[in-house]
Amino acid sequence: MKPFAILSGLALLFAAPAALAEEVVTSPDGTISVTVDVNGEGRPFYRVAKGGEPVLTDSRLGFLLADQDKLERRLAVVNATRASHDDTWEQPWGEQRFVRDHHNELTVRFEEDSNEKRKFGVVFRVFDDAVAFRYLFDDTSVGKTLHVAEELTEFNIAQDGTAWWIPGGEWNRYEYLYEKTPISAVSVAHTPLTFRMENGTHVALHEAALVDFAGMWMKRTTGTNFRATLAPTGSTPARAVRDVPFATPWRTLRISDDAAGLAESLVELNLNEPNKLGDVSWFTPHKYVGVWWSLHLDEETWGSGPKHGATTANVKRYIDFAAEHGFEGVLVEGWNVGWDGNWFFNGGDFSFTEAYPDYDFEELARYAAEKGVPIVGHHETSGDVGNYESQLAAGLDLMAARGVKTIKSGYVTDACNLRYVHPDGRETRECTESQVMQRHHLKVVTEAAKRQIAVNPHEPVKDTGLRRTYPNWVSREGARGMEFAAWGVPTNGPSHVPTLVFTRMLSGPMDYTPGVLSLQGRGQPLEMTMARALAEYVLIYSPIQMVADLPEHYAEHPEPFQFIKDVPADWSESRILDAAVGEYVVTARKDRNSEEWFVGGGADEQGRDVRVSLDFLDAGKSYRAEIYRDGPTSDYRSDARFEIVIEDRTVTAADTLDLRMAPGGGFAIRLIPVGG
Ligand code: NOJ
Ligand code: CA
Repeated sequence: MKPFAILSGLALLFAAPAALAEEVVTSPDGTISVTVDVNGEGRPFYRVAKGGEPVLTDSRLGFLLADQDKLERRLAVVNATRASHDDTWEQPWGEQRFVRDHHNELTVRFEEDSNEKRKFGVVFRVFDDAVAFRYLFDDTSVGKTLHVAEELTEFNIAQDGTAWWIPGGEWNRYEYLYEKTPISAVSVAHTPLTFRMENGTHVALHEAALVDFAGMWMKRTTGTNFRATLAPTGSTPARAVRDVPFATPWRTLRISDDAAGLAESLVELNLNEPNKLGDVSWFTPHKYVGVWWSLHLDEETWGSGPKHGATTANVKRYIDFAAEHGFEGVLVEGWNVGWDGNWFFNGGDFSFTEAYPDYDFEELARYAAEKGVPIVGHHETSGDVGNYESQLAAGLDLMAARGVKTIKSGYVTDACNLRYVHPDGRETRECTESQVMQRHHLKVVTEAAKRQIAVNPHEPVKDTGLRRTYPNWVSREGARGMEFAAWGVPTNGPSHVPTLVFTRMLSGPMDYTPGVLSLQGRGQPLEMTMARALAEYVLIYSPIQMVADLPEHYAEHPEPFQFIKDVPADWSESRILDAAVGEYVVTARKDRNSEEWFVGGGADEQGRDVRVSLDFLDAGKSYRAEIYRDGPTSDYRSDARFEIVIEDRTVTAADTLDLRMAPGGGFAIRLIPVGG
């Protein structure tokens, strides 16, 4: 029972009945603990510790409702049940073939001291590297339908430290450079939201299984306390509306002693439901090229006219290039009617079935099939989701008929300006994370799956691990990608990728579109060295990796290009060997289809010397190491960015490699077992 002595008379009047004592659940290895209770006013809270040190101090739980009193006080814990779970499941494709789901679970039931006696539950799962919880609304004491005005869940970080974050709800969605500030200086942020506390503990707040609910932004209230903020919708006064019973998405907290552990956790995948699509062997991870970088360089255009990129002849040239070098797709942007004029603002003009006259889709489908290089479809909506949904079935049918296996889509418009048309004809404007948009994305994913098509949305909602349930949702953008290196002001600086690995990439695969070996954008240089451009294929995980540069540029750099041809897009194991958030990262991955390993390194503008132990290799085997590294004077700030050293060495698991990463530099290594 609570220490009632400190309560005011008023609070005592409403004190919760028959409360259980505080409930504690720990991780399987005993290091992380979660304590759940209500305070003297019947306000539920939880707190989290690692190794006895607080990670979150008392953080409240609850909701504001649009048509009922808030669910947040006069509550008691009336029941607590426990479970444990340990199994290992296999991903059809991924950064890690086998994933272990090992956790202890505590479900607490809260009941309100009111006439309605409203009840709900919260289920906590504690892993060795994370804590997760979600609310269970499975009792009609809260009504048949819950109209959620706001979620009151808090994450009260136990001490200050450093935060890496992008603003939540701002116009450019997720396409910002990351802010690095004290935790106590964050405003409203997207998740994953990454912290390094003063004691060195790394924490990332995020969510898992965002299905039919509003996505969660994080708002700092005071000090280092954060509160969930559900993305608004233009559709209803409530931010989320669900019929009871339902469970909210999981709120997740990765916790690690170092940056590496943060990035290696796969907790959000574990919290999603297993594959609902069955056999998805029709999707195979691959690399693809496309009519794309030329558009961002303004050498070709999406729209019709003399510079139109998506012509039959030009696409055949790309198909030939892909076939010659072993790439398995050609993305074609600007193939369809709608790009002329100001396409940013004319989403309603897009047709998803009518090609421009100089794009002979049928002939290209024939040619693509002959060469074994499918066309990658493109559906830019310009944020007119209503227009897209009205043509979705026909648009997907056309792609299926043309042998397309993957579609890149796009939602270019300002955040919270997505035009949605409801079944009754009502038009609303939606935020990227609104509940309506979550329904939309899953509709596209499931409709595409029926046609054995994989999807890769740009300007998407953030990833919350749904690729486990829908393994045709293979990648997405959702951060500042390579396009900003072409024309971004500012451009993507050297620290961008070493930051992304510990922020955006915690959520899942990203179609970053690396591999621009010309190291040159539209009138501005790329801020990276050649070796670093190669390393990004290892640092940034995606089962579809673009080989983004122009064929003629690759012809100028045949030796480094070899690494891009060799690097796989599907892995059986992934490990972060060494890292500091935003400064540098060294990643090793094992090919899913061979015994080869690949290692990538990338550094910020300071550069970095690292000693890489090869102890992840099989003991007793020799490997040929094909090393692509910065030269002695490599530097992202001048033409020295082109300097690269390519060398072979024979190594074993007992070796260490001393590698210098130049300012904005890195390295890429292929390790091939010698003699089988
Ligand atoms: C933005 C995407 O991120 C980019 O890759 C694409 O080329 C344009 N939209 C046009 O769809
Ligand atoms: Ca974009």
